[in-house]
Amino acid sequence: MSAKDLYPVPQELAKTAWADKTSYQAMYRASVEDPDAFWGEHGKRIDWIKPYTKVKDVSFAKDDLHIKWFYDGTLNVSYNCLDRHLETRGDSPAIIWEGDDPNDDKTLTYRELHAEVCKFANVLKAQGIKKGDRVTLYMPMIVEAAVAMLACTRIGAIHSIVFGGFSPDALAGRIRDCKSNCVITADEGVRGGRPIPLKANTDAALADCPDCTTCIVVKRTGGTINWVDGRDVWYHEAMDKVDAVCPPEEMNAEDPLFILYTSGSTGQPKGVLHTTGGYIVYAAMTHRYVFDYHDGDIYWCTADVGWVTGHSYIIYGPLANGATTLMFEGVPNYPTVSRFWEVCDKHNVNIFYTAPTAIRALMRDGDEPVKKTSRKSLRLLGSVGEPINPEAWRWYYDVVGEGRCPIVDTWWQTETGGILISPLPGAMDLKPGSATLPFFGIEPVMVDTEGAVLEGPCEGMLCIKDSWPGQMRTVYGDHERFVQTYFSNFSGLYFSGDGARRDEDGYYWITGRVDDVINVSGHRMGTAEVESALVAHELVAEAAVVGYPHDIKGQGIYAYVTLTAGVAPSEELRAELVKWVRNEIGPIATPDLIQWAPGLPKTRSGKIMRRILRKVAENDYASLGDTSTLAEPAVVEELIENRMNK
Ligand code: PRX
Repeated sequence: MSAKDLYPVPQELAKTAWADKTSYQAMYRASVEDPDAFWGEHGKRIDWIKPYTKVKDVSFAKDDLHIKWFYDGTLNVSYNCLDRHLETRGDSPAIIWEGDDPNDDKTLTYRELHAEVCKFANVLKAQGIKKGDRVTLYMPMIVEAAVAMLACTRIGAIHSIVFGGFSPDALAGRIRDCKSNCVITADEGVRGGRPIPLKANTDAALADCPDCTTCIVVKRTGGTINWVDGRDVWYHEAMDKVDAVCPPEEMNAEDPLFILYTSGSTGQPKGVLHTTGGYIVYAAMTHRYVFDYHDGDIYWCTADVGWVTGHSYIIYGPLANGATTLMFEGVPNYPTVSRFWEVCDKHNVNIFYTAPTAIRALMRDGDEPVKKTSRKSLRLLGSVGEPINPEAWRWYYDVVGEGRCPIVDTWWQTETGGILISPLPGAMDLKPGSATLPFFGIEPVMVDTEGAVLEGPCEGMLCIKDSWPGQMRTVYGDHERFVQTYFSNFSGLYFSGDGARRDEDGYYWITGRVDDVINVSGHRMGTAEVESALVAHELVAEAAVVGYPHDIKGQGIYAYVTLTAGVAPSEELRAELVKWVRNEIGPIATPDLIQWAPGLPKTRSGKIMRRILRKVAENDYASLGDTSTLAEPAVVEELIENRMNK
């Protein structure tokens, strides 16, 4: 590796950073040698009602799987994110909200946010919601989404947020799976100047959810909506009827905090369950160290609260640390492609955290829309959600950060609750495209397909050896699926589903999923989900979906479709199927390419050979590998001949 591929820690930053090279190494060693002592100490970052005396009780053994942290302690998350800051920073900004329209913004201090949360907690109580109930949020990026999350945690209700880009069907499935009796939404969302019919989608979803009897609606746009008396409640009207006093519920550390659905290799999304104590300790600590957060910094994570990044690094981590967190309703290219940088200048953002797909899209528009803004407030940049290619990394570093701001490339998952592998900006020299080294307490283990542990520089599958406080505890309602998905492939290890390379410096380079999950614009998608949607169409007999390299999205969705006998393929049908999938799952699942496939390559036992389909979609058909087990080799010739990705 040439010197120009190594970006050393800026000396000035190392002086003030929470960790430098020496302290990182000492703390890391302590964290893996004696996790009980390490986490016993760092758990004190959080205020406990009843302090824990037990730190950790974990077994990754398949037949005795259990994960518990701080498990005799009690606490409340909203107290930790709000009440405990009132004395020291009650009048400091907690949330800076920047609307879709650049003229629309507002700031809530900790005191103001606390009052709103207490009131909305009382609204939930007045609706009969109590500790342990599941509440679904289907909301735009408005302050009320943060208020609703924190209000749930205040009374011990478990929130399940469904990203506003999901369809009514997807929303209904998630409401039913966790048996939510209440959904919180808005009349409409606004993104890039366009309305999103959230209430109409919720109405359609609730038609299939008879047990969900309350729908609380925030008035965001004032657009026309349908109203169901007895079920629908206006947020603002309900808020007028309650007071702002609501004592926080005392929760056990292992009481559920939230459920978040994510895609896996089978058709049904999994309800990832996070619990209270470990999650908040881990979110707060990673936020402080990875982003090197110091009092007074303005921190902006551009994710949506519908994804785990929004949970841990817009809301819980930052607020637990008393930070100022910016919440952005809009999109990177509205009204212009300078928007991100204009927002940075407007609010003096110091720390900026986004996804590679946004960087790649903005990079296409050249340097000028960036350079015409100042960005002098920026100190640190972050990346999350997918591998960042070195070219995009360098553009982000050189053009956006003017060579001044380290980039933290953070690797983690919905399941992990917080960041597992990432640079600490004062401690790690950077290599473009590498997530570098593990966070405290994280022991990555590389294995080959047979499960043999690999040492030194290697390429393999990425597992984690022991638990960390932010780890998911189960798949809601299906513990066996939790065991099967993460702990049955490699004995005694948590299997991430990702492939990685470890270099001679011990740095990790995530190469992407090794299962049937694809990553489209940083959104995780099960290929099986898209296939189920396609075969639900009456003219589709069979479908197979794979990812293929896409310049902006990272991966695009490539679908092979076999039509029912006698149906003629046409451009109209292709467009119809694209629309169909958007309606079934949501716009994020829009197929990029659909290839008509009179037959799919199968083994003699009838299993679809996805490896071959992937190669064809990648335009890499010269290296198809072993095709001797194919039932009908001619099928592959046909697919190559008619491939879409030429
Ligand atoms: O494949 C990895 C990729 O995103 C997956 C997790 O997706 P999700 O649960 O939606 O959470 C995304 C936000 C944490 C991982 O299995 N991924 C995430 N971060 C990175 C990444 N791949 C490479 N580099 C990253 N920094």
